[in-house]
Amino acid sequence: MEHRIRLIKGDITSIQADAIVNAANRTLLGGGGVDGAIHRAAGPELLEACRLLNGCETGQAKITPGFLLPAHYVIHTVGPVWSGGNKNEPELLKNCYRSSLELALEKGLKSIAFPNISTGVYRFPKDLAAEIAIETVMQFLDENGPDMEVLFVVFDQENETLYNSLLET
Ligand code: APR
Repeated sequence: MEHRIRLIKGDITSIQADAIVNAANRTLLGGGGVDGAIHRAAGPELLEACRLLNGCETGQAKITPGFLLPAHYVIHTVGPVWSGGNKNEPELLKNCYRSSLELALEKGLKSIAFPNISTGVYRFPKDLAAEIAIETVMQFLDENGPDMEVLFVVFDQENETLYNSLLET
């Protein structure tokens, strides 16, 4: 089945998808990296909305409006911190992609953009993370119909090279 998966290099805060995914932490109260960029671009109402969500467990996802972002929604998910790979990190990262996609499907969204969850501050190896991301998304689209478009937004050269080579096969 031809998947509606696209690869884009750039800043996820400029993506006009129905939802962009935020690589947040368990407090959902903002941070650095893509979390900081999304909060800066969305404006202070995003933090206000996040305060009401009562945090988020690793591997789970919660949704807020996008406020000043071009995207209508932000799906906040919390990736695993890499600690050697024997603490269920791969499964938890898979859960981030699956939970975000399930939430988007539930809300009837037609497009969702992912950053490279956990591969920055949380130090998840980029090659393994890319494989998990692509495999989980393809599996979900196979199971749930092809009418959702998934965008992978890469921000650094290493992720761009990895996603390019994995998506070409
Ligand atoms: N657009 C797209 N991708 C971005 C952007 C951006 N504006 N800024 C950073 N990235 C990329 C990074 O290059 C990295 O590949 O997002 C990926 C995830 O990196 P982090 O943002 O560090 O996220 P993560 O590794 O999941 O760590 C989460 O960092 O910012 C804090 O509050 C956050 O505690 C949480 C932790």
